[in-house]
Amino acid sequence: MAQPLTIEDLRIMARRRVPRMFYDYADSGAWTEGTYRANETDFAKIKLRQRVAVDMTNRSLASTMIGQPVAMPVAIAPTGMTGMQHADGEILAARAAAKAGVPFTLSTMSICSIEDVANHTSAPFWFQLYVMKDRDFISRLIQRAKAAGCSALVLTLDLQILGQRHKDIRNGLSAPPKPTLANMINLAFKPWWCLKMLDTPRRQFGNIVGHVTGVADMSSLGSWTASQFDPKLNWDDIKWIKDQWGGKLILKGILDPEDAETAAQSGADALIVSNHGGRQLDGALSSIEALPGVVDQVGNRIEVLFDGGIRSGQDVIKALALGAHGTFIGRAFLYGLGAMGEKGVTATLDIIRKELDTTMALCGLRDIQNVDERILVGGREGAIKRLAGG
Ligand code: GLV
Repeated sequence: MAQPLTIEDLRIMARRRVPRMFYDYADSGAWTEGTYRANETDFAKIKLRQRVAVDMTNRSLASTMIGQPVAMPVAIAPTGMTGMQHADGEILAARAAAKAGVPFTLSTMSICSIEDVANHTSAPFWFQLYVMKDRDFISRLIQRAKAAGCSALVLTLDLQILGQRHKDIRNGLSAPPKPTLANMINLAFKPWWCLKMLDTPRRQFGNIVGHVTGVADMSSLGSWTASQFDPKLNWDDIKWIKDQWGGKLILKGILDPEDAETAAQSGADALIVSNHGGRQLDGALSSIEALPGVVDQVGNRIEVLFDGGIRSGQDVIKALALGAHGTFIGRAFLYGLGAMGEKGVTATLDIIRKELDTTMALCGLRDIQNVDERILVGGREGAIKRLAGG
């Protein structure tokens, strides 16, 4: 394929190269996938103000996220089984992020372990935590993240039980894939993926295998989540985790202003407006439609970050204009990774950076830190109306 120019180019390439069960795992949402689709399509409803004859020299995308300098306000989101999109995927994506000067977040459900990523990269990364019933395991996981020099803990709050994604059930998702006839046939068409995967020892959930006892079927994310994740998780546990960790804490999965209020009072450093990429509660608001309500509620009492549906630099700037201080990309980087490994993640970040920079310039601004509702047609209220279909 010619040089990828858009995230969509990378998605198409990834779909060709990655075994169906893992491509589908990334590219799916819960039930009807309505919220999953709305995350992406709602961005297109928001219109930008074109400004002319303003000096566009010396532009800067540099900003901060939780006080840490970033080359642009776009971090890599935690995504499960990243090392199944491409062999050693977490290490490759962390390297690409470090080269681009943006944060990388490692998922609890990663293939490469915390220690492995730390040993094969030089920049500190962020660690995403799922809370499981076994609190000793959680304590150890937090200590392992500390020992690896992780510079923030991202605590996911919207996955105490797993939303149902039909494709994963139909595909019999597991890591590594089971040698069924359907899988063998599909893998035969994915030689590039297979070659790289045969060349790495990293094919299981690296943070878990060897660290927990009494777990029968580790390979299936569905059954494992159902048996291990803590459905009783509550705000008191969050205080316990905050104390155990003692560093920067980000609460992920806030969509409702009431929860945002509790998050603001929790002493966490940031929250992420997120519906888990439409993978949990189908029928929930898209992330971009939920963002203004959260910002209204918390003001600047807690840093508001954002994920959900970002497929271009234009989406990033729209989220910033509606009050997000920074953003995360999940599928956008997974497509790059599946398409071309580390180079593909670099391509994702390059594409988004260029789109963000050009859009900012054509909106008449030179510094990303000055982006606000003035770049939106009708300002904030105009965008909210368009999002509501009014
Ligand atoms: C887990 O994070 C998932 O969304 O599958």
